Amino acid sequence: MKLFDVYPLFDVNIVKGKGCKVWDDKGNEYLDLYGGHAVISIGHCHPHYIDKVSSQLNNLGFYSNSVINGLQQELAVRLGRISGCDDYQLFLINSGAEANENALKLASFTNGRTRVLSAEKAFHGRTSLAVEATANPNIIAPINANGHVTYLPLNDLEAWRKELAKGDVCACIIECIQGVGGIRMVTEEFATGLAQACKDYGTVLICDEIQCGYGRSGKFFAHQWLGIRPDIITVAKGIANGFPMGAVLISPDFAPKYGQLGTTFGGNHLACAAALAVIDVMENENLVENARQTGTYLMERLKELQQTGHHITDIRGRGLMIGIELDIPHKPIRERLVYNQRMFTGCSGTNLLRLLPPLCFTREMADEFIVKLSQELKH
Ligand SMILES: Cc1ncc(COP(=O)(O)O)c(C=O)c1O
Repeated sequence: MKLFDVYPLFDVNIVKGKGCKVWDDKGNEYLDLYGGHAVISIGHCHPHYIDKVSSQLNNLGFYSNSVINGLQQELAVRLGRISGCDDYQLFLINSGAEANENALKLASFTNGRTRVLSAEKAFHGRTSLAVEATANPNIIAPINANGHVTYLPLNDLEAWRKELAKGDVCACIIECIQGVGGIRMVTEEFATGLAQACKDYGTVLICDEIQCGYGRSGKFFAHQWLGIRPDIITVAKGIANGFPMGAVLISPDFAPKYGQLGTTFGGNHLACAAALAVIDVMENENLVENARQTGTYLMERLKELQQTGHHITDIRGRGLMIGIELDIPHKPIRERLVYNQRMFTGCSGTNLLRLLPPLCFTREMADEFIVKLSQELKH
């Protein structure tokens, strides 16, 4: 059998990782400013993570959601504490798309409505409603195009208010820092105005924190920079450092009903052990603070580089979620960074380099990246 060929690949076979470094099968070392697409939060192969996950595997990998799972309960308490959302309720699943799917479903169960407002350039996943809320017609199959979603310009509060005032909107879903959409940031004015309008019109506000959350922005959640409290928060990616996991954080206003949501694998013992190990390391190593400080430093260095006129037209982002807009296509630059400089970066659209390194990224690594990037941009 062959693989279903949907991914354009770099010609590199990564076989090993440690911290912010990965190695290929020929022994070449790479600096990882991509974090396997924002997934590696605490660094590759952290010893505490390995220890916790392997000892859990020695005890019990999986049992169903029909019995008490003490690890889920512990995770709810610890995640509530570290995120400042102690009063929310936790529902665990296996991926980001599934988190958004359940969030939208819960919103609709609650207010009985079916319309969703989503932002232009938004990305919310590739399943049913999550893909419908994703503003990219190329990945919405005809079977997913069910007319539930209106896409509106990010930060255009009047446009969102006008739709909300019709009184039929089930949910608004936003990324406070758009990832796939190109590191576009929600303004405080938009966030607070939207939260108020959602309250006024009985609409559920969902913050998709799958990429921008879990410490990446330098606060636990990106919406916490904007002074809002969403009704529902969705997370995945960094939550378990690569073990497939997603979560929905649900405000106390929602009353659960038996059978309303459910999953076979979600919140299994192994996933919870991985997520608890992530929280341990984030706390012990102050990784949210590191993301804020190292991210600020890296942005400053990038702005200096921009002054020297090397194809950089804009630098934006927060913490360790940074976009470098170029006046040339990113593709050859990323290829040269991988093959000449042995550095992985992400991208968005045709001209944006997207940096999403593990949250343990250091200033020295930032300096190294600046040197190598400036070499490649001079070509
Ligand atoms: C903001 C956002 N939402 C949802 C998703 C979908 O997550 P998953 O690929 O785990 O389904 C992604 C993935 O890139 C994302 O960046």
